[in-house]
Amino acid sequence: MESVQAIKQRFGIIGNNAALNRAIEKAIQVSPTDISVLVTGESGVGKESIPKIIHQLSHRKHNKYIAVNCGAIPEGTIDSELFGHEKGSFTGATQTREGYFEVADGGTIFLDEVGELPLTTQVRLLRVLENGEFLKVGSSKVQKTNVRIVAATNVNMFEAIQKEKFREDLFYRLSTVDIHLPPLRDRQEDIHLLFRKFASDFALKYKMPTIKLTDQAVQVLLKHRWAGNVRQLRNIAEQLSVLEQNRTITAETLQSYLPNSKTNLPAVIKTSKAESDFSSEREILYKVLFDMKSDLNDLKKLTLELMKNGNAKEVEKKNESLIQKIYGSSDEDDAEYEETTEESELLSIPEHKIDHSESLNKSDKYHFAEEIQEEETLSLHDKELELIKKSLERHNGKRKLAAAELGISERTLYRKIKQYDL
Ligand SMILES: Nc1ncnc2c1ncn2[C@@H]1O[C@H](COP(=O)(O)OP(=O)(O)O)[C@@H](O)[C@H]1O
Ligand SMILES: [Mg+2]
Repeated sequence: MESVQAIKQRFGIIGNNAALNRAIEKAIQVSPTDISVLVTGESGVGKESIPKIIHQLSHRKHNKYIAVNCGAIPEGTIDSELFGHEKGSFTGATQTREGYFEVADGGTIFLDEVGELPLTTQVRLLRVLENGEFLKVGSSKVQKTNVRIVAATNVNMFEAIQKEKFREDLFYRLSTVDIHLPPLRDRQEDIHLLFRKFASDFALKYKMPTIKLTDQAVQVLLKHRWAGNVRQLRNIAEQLSVLEQNRTITAETLQSYLPNSKTNLPAVIKTSKAESDFSSEREILYKVLFDMKSDLNDLKKLTLELMKNGNAKEVEKKNESLIQKIYGSSDEDDAEYEETTEESELLSIPEHKIDHSESLNKSDKYHFAEEIQEEETLSLHDKELELIKKSLERHNGKRKLAAAELGISERTLYRKIKQYDL
């Protein structure tokens, strides 16, 4: 049996955390069997490697491995994708089509985001799991298949069961063995290790010197909550690698890339499963565009003021903080800001629970820093809202087209529409 270390090397898994090692060990142990495995853990913790390990170490390795993202397939077509359909079974079904369960006969199917499966599909899945039987959509002929299933979820399945969104019998059938991957914040020893690996990967990819963190920046890295886990860490490493001229990254620079937990931009925490280079480059562009648009709006505001008022000195005085935001601050102010951020670091106030009454009691400098952060968060939210609105308008409310244009999944767009009450 291959060792945990060897598997990590083979599958490019970085880290020495005990819980991570245990998860890999479990994957190795169950691989020769046909036991169903449920991989659990927050988004971005690295769940996708587990089914790959299981498949590659099993006797099924010469047959197909198919990964299906259940959350990304529209409800209307998922049965047909998984189980196939008979010619003429619905409008547009001009040909008989094989589903994944037929194609992967003898192999492994990875059902990612299994908690998103519609209830009707759950019934079909339960049947396959119990006796290997399934029906194509529109057919009454029972077919047999021999597929090993590994599923993954980042949602609380017990809650889903309670809300009757997920069948309890299917849950127990899927989770004969549970492999849990801990969130990145609980793997302190791995955070800097992962960052260095990503920094060196991106230096190679973009043919630039490797970025390096100062000791203080490492502390910021360790204290962050990493809601998007390894995926988010990788994104930040990529953004820094591409955008920072100075290859030594200070705590302040790093902090400016870390999202306030209130922001919800696609650039920050990625929920979409597309892991292509194209998508991460697009995200960097998003960030730059959002920042640029925010600057532009500030400039517009300032120009308008100047046109209306005519008295430059007066406008300058009135818009001091805005001007500082656009053009940066003088050296004196820089020093002040540096001190402030350090102070907040030492206080280690959780970003999502900043108490504003408390910040008022602190020195004025501190209050000032807080205010800037808040303003940026708000304007980014506004930008996102505006972008979504415009895109929907352009496509006459057609979500599919708008989502494609925005580079997010239809589901994410739907969530955002709800979030913003559009
Ligand atoms: N331990 C790790 N070492 C190296 N890369 C990792 C590790 N864990 C996750 N990643 C990377 O992070 C990204 C997200 O992982 P993924 O398996 O898609 O997360 P999940 O499926 O849990 O949302 C991928 O690019 C993956 O390669
Ligand atoms: Mg995933």
